[in-house]
Amino acid sequence: TQAAPVVAIDGPSASGKGTVAARVAAALGFAYLDSGALYRLTALAAQRAGVDWADEERVAAIAAALDVEFLENEIRLDGQLVGDAIRTEAMSAGASKVAALPAVREALLFRQRAFNTKPGLVGDGRDMGSVIFPHAPLKVFLTASAEVRAERRYKQLIEKGLSANLTDLLLDLQQRDERDSQRSVAPLRQERDAKLLDTTGLTIEQAVDQVLVWSREALK
Ligand code: CDP
Ligand code: CDP
Repeated sequence: TQAAPVVAIDGPSASGKGTVAARVAAALGFAYLDSGALYRLTALAAQRAGVDWADEERVAAIAAALDVEFLENEIRLDGQLVGDAIRTEAMSAGASKVAALPAVREALLFRQRAFNTKPGLVGDGRDMGSVIFPHAPLKVFLTASAEVRAERRYKQLIEKGLSANLTDLLLDLQQRDERDSQRSVAPLRQERDAKLLDTTGLTIEQAVDQVLVWSREALK
């Protein structure tokens, strides 16, 4: 059987990947994979089990055994809705720490590929185009200035009723980008065959429209 097409959207934190990927998926009638959620869930499950985020073997075992269910707008972990427990800054940092461990990435590889069903998939993360779906007909590298990304994340957290400080957020985001870009496995970087989309001065609609134009070109 022919593999279904994939639109791979990678980029740094708060560049708009999740928002754009979900809307593009809806417009194309494709499934959507929020791969970052898997690393966030692994960090949360490890914390709940009292396992240190640096303990590669035990964190990888937790990642391999994750009991997770993706619903329309929610995620269930061990049968319970997780809500915003995976969206805190602590869990953002935890996700990026466990994501640097090769055994953890390995444990989550096939779980991610299993999302690639017909008629197609839009996946967002750091390594959708480089490692998970290297043959994706469309790869997009979404970015924006660090300041604009920190402001977006700030607004997002405040709207959810979570606590946030703009200066801390900018620092956290820069540290996480640095860790994600410098790690030895699946580092964050623009693939040679990925199209660059800088959303610094773009609205969500403009970003979505550009990705849809590219999708229609790449998928015909
Ligand atoms: O998934 P990622 O961390 O890359 O970003 P996101 O959670 O999709 O987007 C971060 C925030 O930026 C969301 O609240 C979006 O509504 C907002 N935003 C955007 O994504 N794109 C723009 N062009 C403007 C704002
Ligand atoms: O929304 P935001 O970009 O802030 O974070 P995310 O996409 O939910 O990813 C959280 C963390 O998981 C990132 O900082 C990466 O370290 C890691 N991640 C990864 O390594 N590979 C992916 N495909 C997705 C996320």
